[in-house]
Amino acid sequence: MPATSKATPRHFIDLADLDAATLRRIVDMAHAMKKAGKRPPAALKPAAIEDSILVMIFEKPSTRTRVSFDVAMRQLGGQTIGLNNTDTQLGRGEPLSDTAKVLSRYADAMMLRVNEHKTLTELAEHASIPVINGLSDLSHPCQIIADLMTFEESRGAIKGATVAWAGDGNNVAASWIHAAVLLDFKLRLACPPQLNPNRNVMAWAQKAGGKIELTDDANVAVKGADCVVTDTWVSMGDQDAPKRKQLLGPYAVDDALMKRAKNDAIFMHCLPAYRGHEVSASVIDGAQSVVWDEAENRLHAQKAILAWCLGVN
Ligand code: CP
Ligand code: NVA
Repeated sequence: MPATSKATPRHFIDLADLDAATLRRIVDMAHAMKKAGKRPPAALKPAAIEDSILVMIFEKPSTRTRVSFDVAMRQLGGQTIGLNNTDTQLGRGEPLSDTAKVLSRYADAMMLRVNEHKTLTELAEHASIPVINGLSDLSHPCQIIADLMTFEESRGAIKGATVAWAGDGNNVAASWIHAAVLLDFKLRLACPPQLNPNRNVMAWAQKAGGKIELTDDANVAVKGADCVVTDTWVSMGDQDAPKRKQLLGPYAVDDALMKRAKNDAIFMHCLPAYRGHEVSASVIDGAQSVVWDEAENRLHAQKAILAWCLGVN
């Protein structure tokens, strides 16, 4: 486990950067944060959190990530500064390395939502405070901490379970793949071949011996699953909406597809959702959907991520 000194900050950029025990620890902390409510006890909080500031920078819109990180930091006792990219000199081309060094002199952690994943890795190279990935084109690890928590609340331990993904092999799918490898559950992804998950992420999973199955048939992926997950067909930054909608039509999660999963399977979606596209209203607003718990759990998960990044073991 990395040390907590400013020289070697605990970045949270990809789940694949963590070992299994650390990921398990963060999910357990998220469960504990939820039980603790609005005022987590000192044992769950980082030292000197009252003096800590989280800087948040957004290159893309956000509702859940922005508000849940802001509320999480305040409920832990710290403070936040939220900026859009264009508010900063980054928007005018200031080098990432300079920005990382300067923010490290003011704040205690930074969370960014970025267009290009390499923005995060470059910042992390030069920052002496933790860098947290609030979504990139490649991955969305904070979301998956909340999703793992949500699964476990509804269905018990995720180890050995089967999760099915139907739709675009996007950033959220990549973080699911990382989690499946680390926490040893089966992940069956159904994607149109043109929108398969990132090749490097799949190669990493294969090398690590993950139980990842890829098919182009949603019926195959969902059969007997404990959980069905999907996401928007057009992620932020995607240009080819009409083509994507055409390719992804057969992967829509509707009642017929849900019937192929276990009777007590749950449905998850990171939101924002587009009813009538990737999911029918009857599924997302139906009895098997846990999307509101999942959205709430972003708050508890952010507290756990912040606590870990700021030094809680
Ligand atoms: N799920 C998620 O990250 O939502 P926002 O885009 O609203 O932050
Ligand atoms: N895949 C989506 C997730 C939004 C939270 C996107 O990147 O837009």
